[in-house]
Amino acid sequence: MKLLSTTCLALLLATTAGAAWAEETQAGLARIASPDGRLVFSLHEGRFGSLTWSLQFGDELLVEAARLGMRFAEQAGFDRDLALLGSETASHDSSWEQPWGERRVVRDRHEELLAQVADADGRRFDLRVRVFDDGVGFRYEFPQQEGFESVQIVEELTEFALPRSSTAWWIPGRRYNRYEYLYQSGGLDEVETAHTPFTVRTPGGAHLAIHEAALVDYAAFVLDQRRPGVFQANLTPWSDGVRVKTSAPFKTPWRTVQVAEKATGLLNSDLVLNLNEPNALGDVSWVQPGKYVGIWWAMHINRKTWGSGPNHGATTAETMRYMDFAAKHGFDGVLVEGWNVGWDGDWFHNGDLFSFTEAYPDFDIEAVSRYGLERGVRLIGHHETSGNVSNYAVQMDAAYDLYQRLGVRQVKTGYVADGGDIKRVDGNGVARYEWHDGQFMVGEYLRSVTEAAKREISINTHEPVKDTGLRRTYPNWISREGARGQEFNAWGDPGNPPEHTAILPYTRMLAGPMDFTPGIFDLTFEGLDGRHRVNTTLAKQLALYVTLYSPIQMAADLPENYEARPEAFRFIVDVPTDWEQSIALAGEVGDYVVFARQERGGQDWYLGAVTDENARTLELPLDFLATGKRYHAQIYRDGEGADWRSDPYAIAIETTGVTAADTLELWLAPGGGAAIRFEAVE
Ligand code: NOJ
Ligand code: CA
Repeated sequence: MKLLSTTCLALLLATTAGAAWAEETQAGLARIASPDGRLVFSLHEGRFGSLTWSLQFGDELLVEAARLGMRFAEQAGFDRDLALLGSETASHDSSWEQPWGERRVVRDRHEELLAQVADADGRRFDLRVRVFDDGVGFRYEFPQQEGFESVQIVEELTEFALPRSSTAWWIPGRRYNRYEYLYQSGGLDEVETAHTPFTVRTPGGAHLAIHEAALVDYAAFVLDQRRPGVFQANLTPWSDGVRVKTSAPFKTPWRTVQVAEKATGLLNSDLVLNLNEPNALGDVSWVQPGKYVGIWWAMHINRKTWGSGPNHGATTAETMRYMDFAAKHGFDGVLVEGWNVGWDGDWFHNGDLFSFTEAYPDFDIEAVSRYGLERGVRLIGHHETSGNVSNYAVQMDAAYDLYQRLGVRQVKTGYVADGGDIKRVDGNGVARYEWHDGQFMVGEYLRSVTEAAKREISINTHEPVKDTGLRRTYPNWISREGARGQEFNAWGDPGNPPEHTAILPYTRMLAGPMDFTPGIFDLTFEGLDGRHRVNTTLAKQLALYVTLYSPIQMAADLPENYEARPEAFRFIVDVPTDWEQSIALAGEVGDYVVFARQERGGQDWYLGAVTDENARTLELPLDFLATGKRYHAQIYRDGEGADWRSDPYAIAIETTGVTAADTLELWLAPGGGAAIRFEAVE
């Protein structure tokens, strides 16, 4: 260990009185630069002997000296009188393979700094910092030590001090509708609290996104703007107000900042995955990406009901109809919601009544799962808890056992409940109400994933805690919601505006896959001027299969609506959900995005482009294609006069020969998009 400094920072107190917490008192105590040298993380002494950090990107200071530290219920906090005992550095460069993902091979190249910190009483923690070319992650590591056998964290002091005149895209934090808000954009001064990923463009033009990686046995944080430009990692509390209950040794999740010059740089970053632990499940060949249809949209548009009665969606006959459709077009699964007892009445508030093993009498679960297997289609399970997790917990074993016995490989879970309204019955039988992103639920979500893994079942969590890259460690955590999905177009007031899917890739999707459920073909199911409708063109619905990554993708509309438009449907049938590589080619946050992805284990490429409410013409060099190869480009683009408002169905479908030397000019309609399959021909 190299001793860098033993200065007790408290001695500097006198010289800094009156300054901001974040003010630097002297040159950095330690620094570490990214492999390419452009990104530099530094540690400094702050006011009252506190510890601060900063982040420099080229010529621009992205994070000004910002506070680090922790406060506890029982012990004195690590918030002042701190000393850097020493530090170690290390270099790392390796590659690892994803069982499924946006790319097969991920490179993990970073420089590491381990800073050993102590207070005046000799109590210790380490700060581990990893700097990559695409961003930085750091976490606190508390070693076993006297007095830390039981720890209640009441506040984490980590701050991010951003350039004040930056622009941000965010959803508000710790509010009733969890992550399901429309994104706001504007100056930093408009932000109060924000969920992460929190995406920012600095005055110097750099793009960054604040988030966290490997959130395990800890509370998630929301960003709280405490002073202009200074955002604190505000940990979500338990119902008793404590933020985290633990004992040393323990580690916090990584606090991350993805950094890129261009907006698309954020989309090509693997930082969050690289900061997660490797696969802990061993052979995961049973985790299968794929496409599915389901008894779902019909309920959202009020044609069917989840509950029993004359319009019950989840009947044996209806499920078999969907299975026939799935088998005919090569879908892997059929999701069935509303199959189990408990949906009748006010299911949002009666979560105690759900049975996860008892089907309604008109749903023969044994017969439908068998019927599917005979046709190469699996039943996809569904467990809506309405946030009553104790009722789910006691049934979980039996529920997953049942699905395993029936050959179900994937279960969609749901935790519909207001933020702060997750019902936990404690050991004394008293109901406590928790947040979806507090430490308790962080544990419950992961328990459902690890219990499911024992039965070779993958989990697609709706109303989840935010994704922090745990799919690397638990590859059966196959997708999740965690933002406004397609369902808002069925009943939301308002629905998702055209810009929504031009913001998601740069915000929510930086965290990981989303089960958005694209592919609605009957865009105007209440008429062109109806109160509810899908605010895109038809071509844009196709493009979403490429621009919104998920290893499982739903074809969300009713079978009859696909059968009415077989030419456009062809793209949904063709598009894969697992990729050899993915490249964000072009885009600006909230305006547009273009992705090209190469099929896993194949030669074909797919391209998706979506725009906001503005039409635009893109010039796209096809240099991502293999040189010397010829491709048939099957293009699904907005037709002449297409406009999400007035003419959403105008679509042009055509095939043309291309090579890597070509440049494609693509016109996107207002609220429009384009989807292309490049089929390798020689
Ligand atoms: C909310 C989910 O996001 C949606 O997909 C599901 O249909 C309902 N909950 C009912 O579980
Ligand atoms: Ca939802």
